[in-house]
Amino acid sequence: MDQWNADLYKTKHNFVFEYGNSLIEWLNPQPGESILDLGCGTGELTAQLAETGANVTGIDGSPKMISSAKAHFPNVNFAVADATNFELHQQFDGIFSNATLHWVREKEKAIERMYAHLRQNGRLVLEMGGKGNVNSILRELEYVMQQKGYTYQPFWYFPSPGEYATLLEKAGFTVEKILYFERPTKLADPETGISTWLEMFGDHFFAQVPEKDKQEILQQVQEEVGPALTREGNLYADYVRLRVVAVKK
Ligand code: BEZ
Repeated sequence: MDQWNADLYKTKHNFVFEYGNSLIEWLNPQPGESILDLGCGTGELTAQLAETGANVTGIDGSPKMISSAKAHFPNVNFAVADATNFELHQQFDGIFSNATLHWVREKEKAIERMYAHLRQNGRLVLEMGGKGNVNSILRELEYVMQQKGYTYQPFWYFPSPGEYATLLEKAGFTVEKILYFERPTKLADPETGISTWLEMFGDHFFAQVPEKDKQEILQQVQEEVGPALTREGNLYADYVRLRVVAVKK
């Protein structure tokens, strides 16, 4: 099932690609280089990568995201493909991935596919949620769901630097740079930011929850966590990032 709402993603959750700009600097794409954007979403960063003169392909598992990307950036290559089993019959100079790999639970498969799609000395530059990402929101969600008699199932993969570096090394990568840091991320509306964020990204938590209970849970999480995450009238999700540069030697 394709759960994504590409319009909502572009308008209310544009921080996902706005923060990705500085990751492009880490990749430093050169004109004529071949670059794969893994998990390109609605394609904003893919288009920015293409503006450098690199030959860029964006892939995403969501047909809705890819159709939005194609409509907005008709001159860029996009394709629907799954991070765990993609086969593009090409090796790239660089692979770029922003805010995607925490969705991929079969992480070893994604790492194997990325390795296979890099040429010798090609580089992987990625950012994902790191250990402890959005912890205060998820701990409260777990507490409220359990209070109401529902099971909370962890979903995302937020690794520590050591854990992810080990997986990359096992697959053959040389990890050249790794950075683990807190990056409070401003949400659109202080009154509803957390519940809107959970509705956009966390629908899987509510698969067994009737709509009325879901709305009560969202409101309670917003009320309990909101004040602690608010500074000078703005609400910030407690994002923790993991950034990596790894090379196929
Ligand atoms: C993140 O970028 O950290 C993230 C985004 C959506 C859901 C979970 C994590």
